[in-house]
Amino acid sequence: MTIRAAIFGGSGYGGSELLRILLFHPDVEIAFVTANEHAGKRVGEVHRNLLGLTDASFVPAPEDLGSTDVDVAFFALPHGQAMDLIPKLRPGVKAIDLSGDFRIDDPESFEKHYKLSHSATDLQKEFVYGLTETNRDAIREATYIANPGCFATATLLALAPMVKSGLLTGKIIVDAKTGSSGSGAKPASNTHHPQRSNSFYAYKPFTHQHVPEIAQHLGKVVVFENELIFMTHSLPVSRGIFASCYLETNLNLANEDLKHIYSNFYSDAFFVRLVDGSPDINWVKNTNFCDIGTFSNGKQIVVFSALDNLVKGAAGQAVQNMNLMFGLDEKTGLIFAGGNP
Ligand SMILES: NC(=O)c1ccc[n+]([C@@H]2O[C@H](COP(=O)([O-])OP(=O)(O)OC[C@H]3O[C@@H](n4cnc5c(N)ncnc54)[C@H](OP(=O)(O)O)[C@@H]3O)[C@@H](O)[C@H]2O)c1
Repeated sequence: MTIRAAIFGGSGYGGSELLRILLFHPDVEIAFVTANEHAGKRVGEVHRNLLGLTDASFVPAPEDLGSTDVDVAFFALPHGQAMDLIPKLRPGVKAIDLSGDFRIDDPESFEKHYKLSHSATDLQKEFVYGLTETNRDAIREATYIANPGCFATATLLALAPMVKSGLLTGKIIVDAKTGSSGSGAKPASNTHHPQRSNSFYAYKPFTHQHVPEIAQHLGKVVVFENELIFMTHSLPVSRGIFASCYLETNLNLANEDLKHIYSNFYSDAFFVRLVDGSPDINWVKNTNFCDIGTFSNGKQIVVFSALDNLVKGAAGQAVQNMNLMFGLDEKTGLIFAGGNP
């Protein structure tokens, strides 16, 4: 079967990565790809990395979504738009939303963190959280996927094995950094090159919208009672997330014990690589890998994770989820190496 896929918001960075992956996916045909300001332009004109690789042009979003002939729709739109569009899809069409619209179960928490009121709260219970490595069975059965945030993916993949182990005590401190493409393709003062290059700063202390998402999902991995402190910083790079997670355990763990916990948890996770030493965003850039490094000092643990915010943190994980939803091997169309360096 060829899967007919629609991409909403194909002219942005997330949409660009969906195109880069789906154009070469052996089981997918792109039915249409939408844009707003870029509607009417050719894909290769807007995403110059795709020049010569497709003849497709961006179209405005169809007026009558219910009659579009697609099997799956990806939404790479600003927060607040998928919640209006997904209810209009023909019943049975699968949807994968890269925005935050359906990641948080509690509507009050959603409104507080996204400064938006939700127009489709009744649909929330039909969404499955798309952190592939911890939620495969539910994703296989899902019609609607809330694809995780990029910071949330890096943090949850780093924390899930230790939270599941039941060995944690005290606070969990996550110190996470992102590249500028995390803010999307539209230029803004905080992503402008002269402001961002050679600079480093923290932002949204205690208020980042991924805090409730991370806490909620850890609570589904296991009863989660540890206090979580999560801080976000801006790196002077265009792609990549790096998370340093500081943890305490209730018994002494040797490095080998720690590595054993992670290798057990991720025994069937092709896209999680356990590395010796620190992971490095250079080696995951443009790939769907999340690299994790673990270190123990008795009861003090540090776990580092690195991924590409636009691939494992967005479009790559979305395609990994689509693969499971359509009964394919989750790696289909996603095995490509990054560059060196
Ligand atoms: N960037 C990341 O690292 C990342 C990671 C994980 C999740 N996400 C989430 O993925 C979503 C897309 O992010 P992005 O970085 O790709 O954003 P982006 O680069 O700003 O792209 C946004 C897309 O939405 C379209 N759009 C903007 N306003 C619109 C409107 N009023 N009506 C219809 N279409 C509109 C844009 O079309 P035009 O350009 O043609 O106007 C563009 O195609 C966001 O919800 C984001 O939070 C992003």
